[in-house]
Amino acid sequence: MKIAVLKETRSGETRVAATPETVKKYISLGASVAVQSGAGDQARFPDEDYSASGASISPSAADAAQGADVILKVLAPSSEELRVFGRGVKLIAILSAYNDPDSVESYARLGVDAMAMELMPRITRAQSMDVLSSQSNLAGYKAVIDAAAYYGRALPMMMTAAGTIAPAKAFIMGAGVAGLQAIATARRLGAVVSATDVRFAAKEQVESLGATFVTVDEEAMKEAETEGGYAKEMSEDFQKRQAEFVAGHIAKQDIVITTALIPGRPAPKLVTEEMVRAMKPGSVIVDLAVETGGNVALSRPGEAIETGGVTILGFKNVPGRLAADASSLYARNIYNFIAAFFDKERKSFDADPDDAIIKAVTLTRGGTVVHEAFAAKETEPALESEPEAETAPADTTDAEDED
Ligand code: NAI
Repeated sequence: MKIAVLKETRSGETRVAATPETVKKYISLGASVAVQSGAGDQARFPDEDYSASGASISPSAADAAQGADVILKVLAPSSEELRVFGRGVKLIAILSAYNDPDSVESYARLGVDAMAMELMPRITRAQSMDVLSSQSNLAGYKAVIDAAAYYGRALPMMMTAAGTIAPAKAFIMGAGVAGLQAIATARRLGAVVSATDVRFAAKEQVESLGATFVTVDEEAMKEAETEGGYAKEMSEDFQKRQAEFVAGHIAKQDIVITTALIPGRPAPKLVTEEMVRAMKPGSVIVDLAVETGGNVALSRPGEAIETGGVTILGFKNVPGRLAADASSLYARNIYNFIAAFFDKERKSFDADPDDAIIKAVTLTRGGTVVHEAFAAKETEPALESEPEAETAPADTTDAEDED
């Protein structure tokens, strides 16, 4: 079995889908690996390290993909890249299928068996393959580091001969994987941390990290979690009361980090322009949801802006700002996925299509769209399919062994 590791082509994408460490592991499984030259450069994994691990280095994507059984990428390939993919090849990457349903049809048309890692179900067996978790964790850490870099003051309380410096107050909105890591990081740096979420389960997790949990309605939160552990969209009444509460709380904060997401929907707007105006000059907001519509009214994707003395950071691809670690974790997620379904005798990655994990991530197989969310869409009249795509259910959890 030949595995090809391609260089990412999207601007700003610094990560790579395999590291010298995982290359070695694929080779011990019995696979051969071709790495496109320069694929790991931005994550500081030079070609020589891949060669030393047993990979062959290919001068181009076409060369690496030639005869490959599996192609590993971080993000979805462009239409240009897709041209070099052979029919029947398995593509494993974060394909953002719900944001780009048309791409699913192109994979089918070109005979590419596409597996979307963002659709990994949240069951115990798949935890080590969960790319959203591994990347969000790093994003939560980096958001605090970025906020600290732009904040013109120190985070911890400091008692010096010249007087005492008060600790910074940090407020984390959304206490999922990224939010919990942001809380832990801000606490380690000495800030006084509070956090909010709509899911009731988050309260205990926030408190166990030594932060204060703040909310408007604990009872409503008990209904806010899907079976998969994700948030549901809250009622208008809850959103209104949440906004009133947040307005008062935010005005007293120095750092606000927003991480709130609802799968398959635009990110909820949590911080209005008015709230930003109410913050003290020198405060910093980091909007980690900026690429999915943003939690903060004024944030702009890819930009750091200052308005009324408040800095709003809308960096894109925040995990990619820690390219080496993000690549290492992503590469291990992908290795764990392949290794779990690798047939050692036949030396091939031939997973059972009915396995819950394979079913959840497989978009296309043998030239057909097989994922139920997208296959259903294909049979609908074109006009009706549009709103469907926007509200497609992204809760891929299986009842199996949910955690
Ligand atoms: P996410 O990235 O989809 O959302 C981030 C956070 O925003 C979530 O905690 C969500 O509840 C919150 N949120 C949504 N709307 C909000 C609003 N209006 N106001 C405030 N907060 C809002 O979620 P993520 O980080 O992927 O994790 C969700 C849960 O899944 C977590 O409890 C996590 O521990 C759990 N999980 C379970 C795994 C497993 O394998 N069993 C793996 C990874 C996460």
